[in-house]
Amino acid sequence: MAGGQPTLETARLILRPFQASDAPAVQRLAGAREIADTTLAIPHPYPDGAAAEWIATHAARFAAGTLAPFAVVTRADGLLVGATGLALVMAHAQAELGYWIGHADWGRGYATEAARALLDFGFRGLGLHRIQARHLTRNPASGRVMEKLGMRFEGIHRGAVLKWGTFEDLAQHAILVHEWLASLAAPAPAAPGAADAVRGRDPR
Ligand SMILES: CC(C)(COP(=O)(O)OP(=O)(O)OC[C@H]1O[C@@H](n2cnc3c(N)ncnc32)[C@H](O)[C@@H]1OP(=O)(O)O)[C@@H](O)C(=O)NCCC(=O)NCCS
Repeated sequence: MAGGQPTLETARLILRPFQASDAPAVQRLAGAREIADTTLAIPHPYPDGAAAEWIATHAARFAAGTLAPFAVVTRADGLLVGATGLALVMAHAQAELGYWIGHADWGRGYATEAARALLDFGFRGLGLHRIQARHLTRNPASGRVMEKLGMRFEGIHRGAVLKWGTFEDLAQHAILVHEWLASLAAPAPAAPGAADAVRGRDPR
């Protein structure tokens, strides 16, 4: 893709290209069983050297327009807390969203906050028409992230993946560019406590 990979900022997070020096943190965080358990491409146990090899592929894959991977770091202290990325199919102006957050930081809203910035980059920066995401049906936290992003549930792919010797179902969600733009234009929630009125639409 023309131009270098940008850095994206949110209220609490910075999404930046991975650096070789991130490899030990990636191995430590993504090497946890809790991360491998509900993802499809993360090896477990996580082999020495695999994180550095993975990071070394990023620049070429971004340039080729096939992957936009981002390290998720906190603005407060610059610590790596996770990863998010778009696997791109530019011929169809679409991408698949993926993310993981280190186990110690689950439940702080980081996945949603990071993915929201990435959706905006995908639609307004890359000109995508559709962004989809899939999760194992036994991983409702990921489904909830997709729901909070405004993605629409499209259905279940039964027995779609063989995970650690068991065939599992995948739930698919997606959002189209006009839906994303409409969500940006929607009025902000009135006040904390009006939770029912704004359910599924997190304030920025
Ligand atoms: C899925 C994952 C990325 C979520 O990260 P996170 O930073 O904790 O996500 P957020 O805090 O933004 O949102 C999580 C939501 O799931 C909800 N949740 C958590 N566990 C849940 C459960 N068992 N059932 C239903 N909802 C659940 C949380 O309450 C929260 O929703 P809320 O804001 O309405 O309360 C994280 O758990 C993870 O990295 N898992 C391992 C890797 C993975 O599964 N990646 C996704 C592959 S599809």
